[in-house]
Amino acid sequence: MSAQTPSKRLTIRDIAAMRRRGEAVAMLTAYDATMAALVDMSGADMILVGDSLGNVVLGHETTLPVTLDDMIRHAAAVKRGSQRALLVCDLPFGAVTDPDTTLVNAMRVLKETGVEAVKIEGGLAMVPVVEKLVAHGIAVVAHIGLTPQHVHQMGGYYMHGKDEASAARLRAEALALEAAGAFAIVLECVTPALAAEITHSLTIPTIGIGSGKDCAGQVLVINDLIGLNITPPPSFAKPRADVASVIRTAVGDYVAETKTKRGPIPLVLRAD
Ligand code: KIV
Repeated sequence: MSAQTPSKRLTIRDIAAMRRRGEAVAMLTAYDATMAALVDMSGADMILVGDSLGNVVLGHETTLPVTLDDMIRHAAAVKRGSQRALLVCDLPFGAVTDPDTTLVNAMRVLKETGVEAVKIEGGLAMVPVVEKLVAHGIAVVAHIGLTPQHVHQMGGYYMHGKDEASAARLRAEALALEAAGAFAIVLECVTPALAAEITHSLTIPTIGIGSGKDCAGQVLVINDLIGLNITPPPSFAKPRADVASVIRTAVGDYVAETKTKRGPIPLVLRAD
């Protein structure tokens, strides 16, 4: 293969094969073409165009204001920037209602962006939606535990599966979403012991975030991984770099250099 030949993009069959071999799935978010290219060339298996876009790029407090058009614009950019990773786009709050409407919205995402799959937050109520999308040829990632689109209904961001009622619900949701046809399931902020148990109970890969090390894969918001934030990242993120300080230093140097080297700008007074 020449240096110019793009490598083949991973498919959901590759992800299933990784699960069978016991190879962990490495997933990260990206929201634009440049970051997608960097994440892709660094070996991520899956790139999620998450609706965390709302928090980390668009400056919203929650993911709720993110629109389907926002997701489509950013997912299309991620597609243009990447070559190998399997791409998943979140269906944002308001785009997942009844199965028929969700199908129309998911079709738009696939047609207008070129991503391979969509992700849907929610438990048992999402089973008919997942079934509908899968029946129409759409690859779906499910997402249970802490589902940020339901932050107001849940009453905040916290760990799930701590008590037996919550653990039983999560076990049932995971099995039902697998049976509905999801090809992977994100477990967000699920207690590590329960996440491990759910992982063993499924054949599809669990992709954990803040759910311990025993999931079949891991996902992180890229900004949390590289330290590109202005507020502290979640405690489980363990940033590997401090890109925010690199930016502050570079911009600070540029501003100082511009002001000192340029000297005062002569004031030219017009005659009229
Ligand atoms: O929106 C997002 O980035 C996500 C991940 C945190 C799983 O859903």
